[in-house]
Amino acid sequence: MEPTAWPGVFRLGRDLFTVNGAPGHRVYGEELRTERSTEYRKWDPFRSKLAALLVKSPRQLDLAPTARLLYLGGAHGTTASHLADLNPDGRLFVVEKSPTAFPTLLEVARTRDNLLPILADAQLPERYAADVGPVGFVYQDIAQRAQARIFLENSSALLTPGGRGILMLKVRSVSQSTPARRVLNDACRELEAGGLRVLETVDLAPFAREHHAVILRG
Ligand SMILES: C[S@@+](CC[C@H](N)C(=O)[O-])C[C@H]1O[C@@H](n2cnc3c(N)ncnc32)[C@H](O)[C@@H]1O
Repeated sequence: MEPTAWPGVFRLGRDLFTVNGAPGHRVYGEELRTERSTEYRKWDPFRSKLAALLVKSPRQLDLAPTARLLYLGGAHGTTASHLADLNPDGRLFVVEKSPTAFPTLLEVARTRDNLLPILADAQLPERYAADVGPVGFVYQDIAQRAQARIFLENSSALLTPGGRGILMLKVRSVSQSTPARRVLNDACRELEAGGLRVLETVDLAPFAREHHAVILRG
């Protein structure tokens, strides 16, 4: 197991791994591997867009740049579990609105003190802003038309100045017919008009088709 340029992320062959914050537990059927008394979990870029971003982008990203992180669209906790494990001393607030996915997310939280699930609609950050408080990092993976607006509203409510963010933009949820490049450009313009700086965009194909990671600074 070799360390990578991303703190807390390891590589074995072509596969990525993070240290398992809940030894003995899998979250999504992923491979577990123990080396020198440390258990690692394989991080699958076909199941997690954040892992896909690491595989696709040569840029060095600090994935746990702060003690407090907000994750919008946590679903069953696949990516959130890895992000929580990358930041064992921090707190990862995970917003998910689906009552179907939420029980699985709660199970993941039971084995990780630093993952705090919130059953809420990310379009209404005022409902959880007081519980979450200021964060230094916002991650969003929500398949909705107004993805950029949701990211902006959460950032303006909760992201500290100079904080970082990643929006996983699902092009076809914004428009079925507009060319992908135009959807991406429009989203970037909207985010910049809202006061955020777009640092980089990364096409996540072939791991996630018609998805672009938009890396931002507040
Ligand atoms: C593509 S899945 C997220 C996958 C997850 N990020 C991962 O990598 O493990 C999108 C999730 O966003 C949730 N979602 C959609 N709209 C939402 C909203 N307005 N507020 C909160 N969650 C929302 C959906 O219920 C779904 O679970």
